[in-house]
Amino acid sequence: MNTTIVIGLVFGDEAKGKVCNALLSKKNIFGNNKYDICMRVSGGSNAGHTTYHNGRKLITHIIPAGIFHNIKSIIGNGCYINVKKFFEEVEYLQNNGYDCRKYIKIAGNSHIITQEHLDEEIGENKIGTTKQGIGPCARDKYARTGIQAKDVLELKPFVIDLYEELFYGNNNSNILVEGAQGFYLDIEDYGYNYPYLTSSHCSVAAAVMNYIPYNSIKSVIGVCKAYDTYVGAKKFQPEGEIFNKIQEIGNEIGATTKRKRQVDWLDLDLVKRAIDINGVNMLVVNKMDVLREIGVWKLYGGGFLEEYKTEKQFKEVIKNVLGKGLDKIIFSYSPEKL
Ligand code: IMP
Ligand code: MG
Repeated sequence: MNTTIVIGLVFGDEAKGKVCNALLSKKNIFGNNKYDICMRVSGGSNAGHTTYHNGRKLITHIIPAGIFHNIKSIIGNGCYINVKKFFEEVEYLQNNGYDCRKYIKIAGNSHIITQEHLDEEIGENKIGTTKQGIGPCARDKYARTGIQAKDVLELKPFVIDLYEELFYGNNNSNILVEGAQGFYLDIEDYGYNYPYLTSSHCSVAAAVMNYIPYNSIKSVIGVCKAYDTYVGAKKFQPEGEIFNKIQEIGNEIGATTKRKRQVDWLDLDLVKRAIDINGVNMLVVNKMDVLREIGVWKLYGGGFLEEYKTEKQFKEVIKNVLGKGLDKIIFSYSPEKL
């Protein structure tokens, strides 16, 4: 078994979907990989993965990107499933020509979001969740009162035993783990953001908690953008018209909630910390085109904000601060510009 893991290094929305799609394509910037399985290991309908495939824009929430490439697409035990939304997504993808019945598998022990979980999130909430019932579902999982996928009749055709599937379902499985959200939203609170977090694991550890043996992990690809964004109730965006401009040009709007994402300059200290803790060996910095259009390049480093005159200088600083120990840094663009 060979595993590649793609994770968000900051607060989600780093365009991980684009990176996963590139990896799953036959010819790609990462070389000649071939995957047999693509697996989601955390999150649920709170995630919004925007994919540009064959000239079309497609938004998914729970179904892994493998579906766009006709490979086995597994929803792992760490995910939270809204059954109604799952079937809506299946229909949407089927209508777009993707064979969901054949390729989608669901770990029998993944947890189900119920109507009660959704009802609990109606109205305003303190941390600004996506209101998809994620927190209440996670609470019931850990209180050991939750419902699992294997107990839902309509899901039966999709349900698998994850152990059997991963270890005996394929010979020489090459697995791509598609992370959801970002490291600083992880429930384990790696960045002093508690309680402004989601209720699943967004770190590399999520893969290991979804039956991936640690010694099968060959590569951890960390993804960030040329600037930071965050959605939630915490005040994040500093004063300044420029952030509204980045928001607009970068089209920084939540794929699930349609909320505007708050914007700030990229914080290299946060990215460095995420690289170290997750054992990232390859870094992708997305959306370089947005700052190019704005014509301003700034970075936080060592607690200070510094401005750079050119994109070249900006890249050099990123390479100098983050490059040590990495095999590769890839500077890339917005998904629709790829
Ligand atoms: P929840 O995951 O709906 O409980 O929301 C908890 C926090 O995580 C909120 O600040 C959400 O905006 C944030 N969040 C959840 N999923 C995503 C995502 O896919 N991208 C960005 N932020 C997210
Ligand atoms: Mg997203």
